[in-house]
Amino acid sequence: MKGKFISLEGGEGAGKSSAIHVIKAWLEERNIEYVLTREPGGTPMAEEIRELVLASRDEAVAADTELLLVFAARVQHINTTILPALAEGKWVISDRFVDSSYVYQGIGRGIDKSVIDMLRTSFLEGCMPDKTLLLDVPVELGLSRVASRGDANRLDGESTAFHEAVRSGFLELAADEPARFAVLDASQTMDNVAEQILQQLSLLEKTL
Ligand SMILES: Nc1ncnc2c1ncn2[C@@H]1O[C@H](COP(=O)(O)OP(=O)(O)O)[C@@H](O)[C@H]1O
Ligand SMILES: [Mg+2]
Repeated sequence: MKGKFISLEGGEGAGKSSAIHVIKAWLEERNIEYVLTREPGGTPMAEEIRELVLASRDEAVAADTELLLVFAARVQHINTTILPALAEGKWVISDRFVDSSYVYQGIGRGIDKSVIDMLRTSFLEGCMPDKTLLLDVPVELGLSRVASRGDANRLDGESTAFHEAVRSGFLELAADEPARFAVLDASQTMDNVAEQILQQLSLLEKTL
């Protein structure tokens, strides 16, 4: 018996953290064991790497540095947290996974997709989400939600053009892998988005 692996993707303020609460309640109703985790992060060491990546600093961060750091954190996350949990039959819900690298480090920072493909093939083989919920929201709306949340990090300070590239990058990935992705309209009310999430969960439950 192997658990299901779900990742949540989307820009800041799309509602990923909110979505996790909905999924958690659904899993608890069914007495399904689960692990809630996030990227970069999900293990003590990977959380330290997260702090390195997200810290505001005067030193310019090279795109390749950022890419390798998030992949290093991901490899640690997979080996220490994700694969062991799935092997025990637990469901794993991750706030972001490899798609965020294609979008933030790839499209956002201009790293060639083939480089990320190579890292994915080398290090993530056999550990891809069963389902990726893409919370899609217009950039302005996402940013206004983040502003009211009041915990900006280095990436939140990027230009609107960067965030637009992130949004369309996610949508392109979803179009490339329609079986894995579900694109949710995250501009709707919390209740409506929760309903969209529950729909996806019941579809996934049928594949058990
Ligand atoms: N569908 C929604 N409608 C209105 N506000 C929302 C919605 N989803 C999330 N929010 C609010 O927007 C802010 C950002 O949501 P959050 O779940 O933290 O997004 P993310 O984790 O994707 O950055 C939070 O204050 C949250 O309460
Ligand atoms: Mg969040």
